[in-house]
Amino acid sequence: MKNGGVFLDKLRRFYKHIYEEPYTGVEGYRLFYNENLFLEDNYYRALFKEVEFEEDELRFYSDPYCRSLSEEIASFLGITPDMVFVGNGVDALISIIMDIAAASRSRVVIVEPTFGMYKSKAKVKNCKTTTVLLQKNYALNLEDIHSNLSDDSILIICSPNNPTGNQFEREDMLSLVESFKGLLVVDETYVEYGRYTLVNDIEDHENLVILRSFSKAWGLAGLRAGYSVCHPDIAKAFAGSSDPYPMPSIVKKIVARALKLSDYVYEAVEEAIRVRKYMYEEMLDINGVRPYPSDTNFIFFKAEDSRRLLEELVSKGFLIRDVSDKPLCEDGLRVTIPPKEIAENFLKAIRDKVGG
Ligand SMILES: Cc1ncc(COP(=O)(O)O)c(C=O)c1O
Repeated sequence: MKNGGVFLDKLRRFYKHIYEEPYTGVEGYRLFYNENLFLEDNYYRALFKEVEFEEDELRFYSDPYCRSLSEEIASFLGITPDMVFVGNGVDALISIIMDIAAASRSRVVIVEPTFGMYKSKAKVKNCKTTTVLLQKNYALNLEDIHSNLSDDSILIICSPNNPTGNQFEREDMLSLVESFKGLLVVDETYVEYGRYTLVNDIEDHENLVILRSFSKAWGLAGLRAGYSVCHPDIAKAFAGSSDPYPMPSIVKKIVARALKLSDYVYEAVEEAIRVRKYMYEEMLDINGVRPYPSDTNFIFFKAEDSRRLLEELVSKGFLIRDVSDKPLCEDGLRVTIPPKEIAENFLKAIRDKVGG
């Protein structure tokens, strides 16, 4: 046990921030991961009903290019299959993008506050990174972003954004992609709850990359499935940088089936949006709490003494996310939109605590 000391110490220092799931072992409503809490059993039953597996699908490696799923996704979106690259969740695609950034020595420009995986993957892969802050009202700070871009930058913007919940203006996004020759990666993980998508703008903008997930609106977080839509040459670069066989065959089949059940998904999204509106308007009326408009399946809000409120909510079984450590998010909390009845009880718990 003695010889590894120096090297192990180095590893311990470098990897000390291991991701830990919040609330492990705590009972309550899971309102911290923005999973889809609206899809009912009939969706999952319909999903499994027609999915069958042959022995050889397990015995053999699956198609490394995931051609049949790429074709299904492409026909769903009305694009060509060579523009689709699939992977084990957007997380896996983020890893690939950071590998490409590190290998090509491109600078990653991250617009914060945002989903933490971008920064942590960039760090682990030793990418050159610049952080640009949003404005105080969480709009894009276009001037600041422009002044940090060069033609070999990879600009990352989550739109709709996590944790702030807003989708940035389409014109601003397009003006950014047109303003430089590097890559603009737009994370559209929450887009089904948003106002627009940039997927159809890729034809006109070769340097636009969209990331999409099956974890949120599609209710398949446990499968780990996502994809990118981009110029075929970028999709090839993703394939070149990815592990071989980037998605298990079982996952591919279930995702392909889910695409045929989009009616269930859109119905659940519509209901989540109705409850989101209800929660937002109710929260506006509570003193000491400030909700922000949302284009996602969660609400970001600020609260006086947010730590105490969080503890109180957790003690009542509402496991929501503390995001107060992110830049510009002081006193910030984030709650996944739950079905109406749970939302009512959640609002009551806040009112009981803050007296609003
Ligand atoms: C903005 C954003 N991007 C990506 C992800 C990860 O998505 P996936 O489950 O597809 O890896 C999340 C998860 O919360 C997210 O909020």
